[in-house]
Amino acid sequence: MEKHQIKEYISHEKIQTKEYELAEQISKDYQGKDIYFICVLKGASVFAINLALKIKENVHLEFIEVSSYEGMESTGTIQLNKDITSSIEGKDVIIVEDIIDTGRTLNYLKEYLLTKNPKSLKICTLIDKKERRVVELEPDYSGFTIEDKFIVGYGLDLDEDYRNLPYIGIIE
Ligand code: IMP
Ligand code: MG
Repeated sequence: MEKHQIKEYISHEKIQTKEYELAEQISKDYQGKDIYFICVLKGASVFAINLALKIKENVHLEFIEVSSYEGMESTGTIQLNKDITSSIEGKDVIIVEDIIDTGRTLNYLKEYLLTKNPKSLKICTLIDKKERRVVELEPDYSGFTIEDKFIVGYGLDLDEDYRNLPYIGIIE
């Protein structure tokens, strides 16, 4: 049973349509190349897999886990919980994230992954909360830009709940 009232904000269908658009753009930009997805656990898992299924080029899946959030607030300090297990040296890498909020997580990940000498490094996010940014960071591919609201579903959680909602909702 749901512990909160959740209102649908972005439907499953809208997310799928957006994924097809992003996948088409990425397939075009990386024609003939192997793409190395670095999925930021746990939130981006649902988006990364569903996006990968729609891409026509070969997609390698790597996973990294960091933490910065507790409840609805970012703690500001980023911790690396799990590193990738394959080399990305000389590879075309796309970091796949569920949401960019302050930008701290992706800023940290970008700097960290650049030390592994990829050939290219881009950022793809499903959601961008632009107005919350405290560090300068622009995604190369972005699904939806939203206002400052706390959302759950499609991988996004509130203290580990609601990740498997097929849509994105707002806690009322
Ligand atoms: P940032 O470092 O502030 O950009 O935070 C990014 C991380 O915070 C994301 O990977 C999410 O895990 C989490 N986050 C930010 N906003 C939300 C939200 O509205 N719902 C759920 N998680 C969020
Ligand atoms: Mg999270």
